[in-house]
Amino acid sequence: MTTASTTSPALSADPLQLIDVDHVRFYVGNAKQAAYFYAHTFGFRIDQIADLTTGSRTEADYLLTQGNIRLLLTTPLNDTHPAAEEIKLYGDGIKEVALTVDDAEAAYNQAIANGGESAQAPRTIEDDKGTVTVASIRAYGRMIHTFVSRTGEYAHENMRNGGMFMPNFKKHESPLNDYNEKHPCGLMYVDHLVGNVEEGKMNEWVKWYEDVMGFAMFKHFDDADISTEYSALMSKVMASGNNLIKMPINEPAEGLKKSQIQEYLEWHNMTPGVQHLAFRTDDELATVAELRRRGVDFLDMPDTYYDLVWDRVNTMLKEHGHDIVREDHERVKELGVLVDADDEGYLLQLFTKPLQDRPTFFIEIICRRGSQSFGKGNFKALFESLELEQERRGNL
Ligand code: FE2
Repeated sequence: MTTASTTSPALSADPLQLIDVDHVRFYVGNAKQAAYFYAHTFGFRIDQIADLTTGSRTEADYLLTQGNIRLLLTTPLNDTHPAAEEIKLYGDGIKEVALTVDDAEAAYNQAIANGGESAQAPRTIEDDKGTVTVASIRAYGRMIHTFVSRTGEYAHENMRNGGMFMPNFKKHESPLNDYNEKHPCGLMYVDHLVGNVEEGKMNEWVKWYEDVMGFAMFKHFDDADISTEYSALMSKVMASGNNLIKMPINEPAEGLKKSQIQEYLEWHNMTPGVQHLAFRTDDELATVAELRRRGVDFLDMPDTYYDLVWDRVNTMLKEHGHDIVREDHERVKELGVLVDADDEGYLLQLFTKPLQDRPTFFIEIICRRGSQSFGKGNFKALFESLELEQERRGNL
């Protein structure tokens, strides 16, 4: 499997049937430089640009691609653009998770009928090659979800196979793109995307995703409420109808030390937003080795983690009749990769440090070998490591 995208349904009865994660948009202070960062450190292709040279007078947009991942970096070109205010409040971070649907206007109307609040009414951008229709609703905090439907050369299949993203974009060539083609990082698609909301608000947003978006709570063995003295967070996982995208929602909880969720909120103007984006790979060790070589700053795990992990994980796997972790155990330790298991199998994962100076947004690299959970067994280990980082920042 190389993609999380479902096959395009012939006009499904449910307007909220999702086809793909169309793109994830960041608001950043300087898209030209941020594009270089993500291209260099994570191996993204800087594929297309819309800026002054293509007639975009109010913002510059850089489309970065890898596998079936599309990141859109947006920078305001004047102080009245809404992104200017958001960058002042939150620094760089995720503004929008856009979802491909058959009919963006129908999806938007359904979401509004379900109780959603409009962020932007439907509008169609077109040229002689085709159309892109977008319509947005407000989710938690600063976050919006945009429904996107596409026709002509901009149709979903064309776009995801390297075709043009939208009218007014131009293709971009650079030596860095050529380099990345020769040195792939192996990122395939967005596995999940985690939101941080205020204390006591998690269940409200769980209900919102159920009512407005038609999502359901993702149930499995590793389940639902996670609240430990170590993790100091509560989390519930919401999944779209076809499991195309999973969106865990965190709120801070009473813990031994200040919650990482609380720290995020304090540096994000007490406004909910995306805490991390998890990219899926089929080869965790190759991906993490390449990202480390490129200078990605991952969280450090305490050495003691590897004294305990194999017994914990391999015992669980054997109990449920699975083979033990097939990756070289020594290499896993060398690369500082985390491992967790449940009744269905195991997963390998690793988290970066925050990717901007504010301790807010970070990225996870995840590889699943049967497990559909999120690494609950690593929460304690992760928390201890995060705590060390918080202490270094003087925020504990
Ligand atoms: Fe995650």
